[in-house]
Amino acid sequence: MRLLFLGDVVGRSGRKAVCDELPRLRERYRLDFVVVNGENSAGGFGITEPILLELLDAGADVVTLGNHAFDQREALVFIDRYERLLRPLNYPAGTPGRGSGLFKARNDADVLVIAAMGRVFMTELDCPFRAIEAEISACGLKQGADAILIDFHAEATSEKQALAYYLDGRASAVIGTHTHAPTADERVLADGTAFMSDVGMCGDYNSVLGMEVEEPINRFLTRIPRARFEPASGPATISALAVDTDDATGLARHAKALRLGGALAPTEPLFWVE
Ligand SMILES: [Fe+2]
Ligand SMILES: [Fe+2]
Repeated sequence: MRLLFLGDVVGRSGRKAVCDELPRLRERYRLDFVVVNGENSAGGFGITEPILLELLDAGADVVTLGNHAFDQREALVFIDRYERLLRPLNYPAGTPGRGSGLFKARNDADVLVIAAMGRVFMTELDCPFRAIEAEISACGLKQGADAILIDFHAEATSEKQALAYYLDGRASAVIGTHTHAPTADERVLADGTAFMSDVGMCGDYNSVLGMEVEEPINRFLTRIPRARFEPASGPATISALAVDTDDATGLARHAKALRLGGALAPTEPLFWVE
């Protein structure tokens, strides 16, 4: 099965790149399933309902969120109407929305998608390891799910790596998000789980984490906010992880970062190019 995971979409520039390119990528690579992290898609902070619909229309099967899930307060209300929008699983009980779901891929396979958030240098939520464990023991690989994709939204690389090894052989892919800077460590672990510490963002890389550089520099220099953070508006790079899974086991055979457009050097998932 051919899976593609796109990192945090930042602002208008990130949305434009995803909406322009994703339909073509779906065709070109005959993708079976696509997940997009949309936590920064609305002006850099959160997501709105029209933007969610735009991402779904462009070809996302599922949109995941992270620590910015509810920056746009309306998400607290509309999230309950969209099965395909996931916020981190390990928020306190009673938080609107859901953190996982089982979805039909284009090849008719059942894909379990889980969004979870780390706890190191972030808000203290419930234990993500145990929360994910409960999900995959209820719906494991080839015991309910043909593939399992985990968006692990976390700051610390150690926590991301630990989760990946904890789940090795039990998930198709553990994909880090949140830092907005892609790492160069994508690979398939010994027991068949694809892993990348951070997939990066879909946004303008001539920026600080997708934001115009002036205000971040000002805040580091003076510690006094002078203006709002504004998303950088230059051409965005699409940062994604392509994962090819074995239909028999649901485990990964190949994993390769895909980068397209904007300021970063392009890469392609060559294993899918005939
Ligand atoms: Fe983000
Ligand atoms: Fe984040």
